[in-house]
Amino acid sequence: MKKKIVILSGAGISAESGIKTFRDSGGLWESYDVQEVASIDGWYANPQLVNDFYNERRKQLKEAEPNQAHRIIAELERDFDVTVITQNVDDLHDRAGSSHIIHLHGELCKICNESKSYTVDIGYEPLEYGRLAPDGTLFRPFIVWFGEAVPLLLDAINEVKTADIVIIIGTSLNVYPAASLFEYAPRNSLIYLIDPNEVSVSSSRIEWIKEKATVGMELLKTKLYDLL
Ligand code: APR
Repeated sequence: MKKKIVILSGAGISAESGIKTFRDSGGLWESYDVQEVASIDGWYANPQLVNDFYNERRKQLKEAEPNQAHRIIAELERDFDVTVITQNVDDLHDRAGSSHIIHLHGELCKICNESKSYTVDIGYEPLEYGRLAPDGTLFRPFIVWFGEAVPLLLDAINEVKTADIVIIIGTSLNVYPAASLFEYAPRNSLIYLIDPNEVSVSSSRIEWIKEKATVGMELLKTKLYDLL
């Protein structure tokens, strides 16, 4: 029986692929008002502005490539049962080859109807503002905005509950419910956190690897194979 690894990743894992994080200096929320471009109220107030914001991010994603951290995580599937639970809406884990990914906050390459019951994969192409879904509602980015439910939360919790090893990587653990997921890890599981900066989390169970994602995953990979 392969040991189960659950990855809890955030924007920091994509930083070395050239994609901005949110709360670091120079992060996305320094140039945009998160309520204006990443909340359901912002969408209702100015859907065209929100649509343009995601078109810009989709265009940038086209130029980005998965980095060594994404690739190591995908390669771990050879010897471990790996589930990736990511807050990232980019497709870098997917392109790196991970086969079991839960996109907790949605997917940048998809658009959906108002009720999110119908999605279309548009890749890195812009969504033309005003395009209607088959049910007549305005197509919108398939993103979980602030003020919206997190439909895949229960799936994510059930994955963490059965983990032998949890790896938190590249997230400031600022946003709930994603930030509380690691707390569902079984008592006898191992929890690692890879981040070059201090993350305020109160848990003595976490072993902090103070490195950037690509270096941290390289170091942790050795530790994981020592557990085999
Ligand atoms: N390697 C690893 N971690 C890094 C790197 C790197 N090269 N560079 C930065 N980090 C770390 C930062 O220290 C920080 O702890 O990544 C984390 C990024 O934190 P945030 O910018 O807050 O991103 P995240 O935690 O993913 O944000 C969560 O907030 O705005 C919402 O929906 C959005 O999913 C996002 C959520």
